[in-house]
Parts: sequence; C-alpha cells; structure tokens
Amino acid sequence: MKTKIILLGPPGCGKGTQAELLGDRLGFVRLSTGDMLREAVRNDTPLGREAKKYMDAGALVPNDVIIGMMKDKIRELKGTFLLDGFPRTVEQADALAKEIDIDAAINLDVDDEELVGRLTNRRSCPDCNSVYHLINKAPKKEGICDKCGCKLYQRDDDTEKTVRNRLKVYRDNTYPLIEYYRERGKLATIEGIGDIEYIYTKVTKALK
Ligand code: AP5
Repeated sequence: MKTKIILLGPPGCGKGTQAELLGDRLGFVRLSTGDMLREAVRNDTPLGREAKKYMDAGALVPNDVIIGMMKDKIRELKGTFLLDGFPRTVEQADALAKEIDIDAAINLDVDDEELVGRLTNRRSCPDCNSVYHLINKAPKKEGICDKCGCKLYQRDDDTEKTVRNRLKVYRDNTYPLIEYYRERGKLATIEGIGDIEYIYTKVTKALK
C-alpha cells in the first residue's frame, strides 16, 4: 500500500473528510496546513497573526512562511502519513521533494458549483477538526461535534465571496500541481462527487 501521500484538489473537494477517514481507519498520521494555521490564529501566535489576513481573504499564506512551518514537521514524519493542503504551489512541492519522496498524490476532482454548496454549508469542530455539512453530513446533535462534543463553528473563509476567491486562487496557484505530479508518475485523479463512503472506497483502491 502507498503510505506517503498527498491529498490534492480545490477547496471543499473533501480532502479533510477523506483524511479523517484514512486516519481513523488506516492509521494515517495527518498533517493539515489549514488546521495548523487555524490553531495558530486561535492561539494568537505571531504566525497566526501573519496568516490570518491572507486566510480571511481566501489568499495563500506566502511560501516562505508555509515552508518554514512545514520543514521540521516533515522531517519528523515516519511511517504512514498524509499531507492535506500542502503543497499548494510548485515552490512548496519542490521544497517537499527535497525532504521526502512521496508515493502518490490523490487528486479529488469536483466542479465549482458543488464546491460552493459544500463550503457554505460546512461546519467544523475547533477542537478535533472534524468536518460536517448541514445536509450531507449533519452531526447527530445540531451544532455539536459527534466525536468530542465541542460546539461547531462556521469558518470565516466559508462565505460565498471568499469561497469564490479561494477557487480562483486554487486555479492560478495549485492547479499546476496536477501536471507536476502527473509528470512524475505519482498522480491518481478521482471524481470526488458522490457518497463520502463511495469516494473513500475509490481513494483506498488508488492506494493499492
Ligand atoms: P485549508 O484548510 O487547507 O482549506 P482548503 O484547501 O480550502 O480546503 P477545505 O478545508 O476548505 O476543504 P476540504 O477539501 O478539506 O473539504 P472538506 O473535507 O472539509 O486552507 C485554508 C486556508 O489556509 C487557505 O485558504 C490558505 O489561506 C491557508 N493555507 C493552507 N495551506 C496552505 C498552503 N500550503 N500554502 C498557503 N496557504 C495555505 O469538505 C467540505 C464540505 O463538503 C464539508 O462540509 C463536508 O462534510 C462536505 N463533503 C465532503 N465530501 C463530500 C461528498 N463526497 N459529498 C458531499 N459533501 C461532502
């Protein structure tokens, strides 16, 4: 099985959802740059203060900040792991390649209108980072995380205007990574529309 993987794809394609399942069921250690940055924002660290202005606008945090944040974390990774939300630019991918030879980049392909509907209805847990959807994956008790019982919240960048900017930023900066990993023989593209469990089956098949 492929054990060193990247989850690629536009905002809302289901990277976090599939990462959670791969972590819970197959023991993948998850490294999510989005979760790390949101934690830094909540803790009001210098990194969090720097990152917040970009995140709120739906822009990318500068490469040097992200690469600096990730370098040591990547060096510490052992065994079975997945990267969610990193790399997001060719410069980040080159920095990653200097440290680790990944086994596969799983690209979840979903169209823009579906993505807008998913993100504007998403609710997130600030504590364990589980994600829900008001219709597709509602928590058992309204507004409360099934896993840890914390109060769910709506991310500041999940408004329609910011989501549309994130989609543009994705196309301009991250989309080229599809070709980057295809050229290196690492790419597996999966249509990301359909039941979450069905997508999970396709993801695990791509890892064989
Ligand atoms: P980040 O947190 O990484 O956000 P993102 O890539 O925009 O991805 P999302 O978390 O929004 O979506 P997802 O693909 O994980 O989907 P999810 O599973 O939640 O980054 C946030 C910000 O941080 C960036 O904008 C940037 O500013 C900064 N940043 C982070 N990394 C960076 C980097 N490397 N470089 C520079 N800046 C960086 O699912 C979405 C919703 O859909 C949920 O409600 C879910 O329940 C639902 N859903 C999931 N699967 C399905 C399905 N199959 N059918 C129906 N609904 C589904």
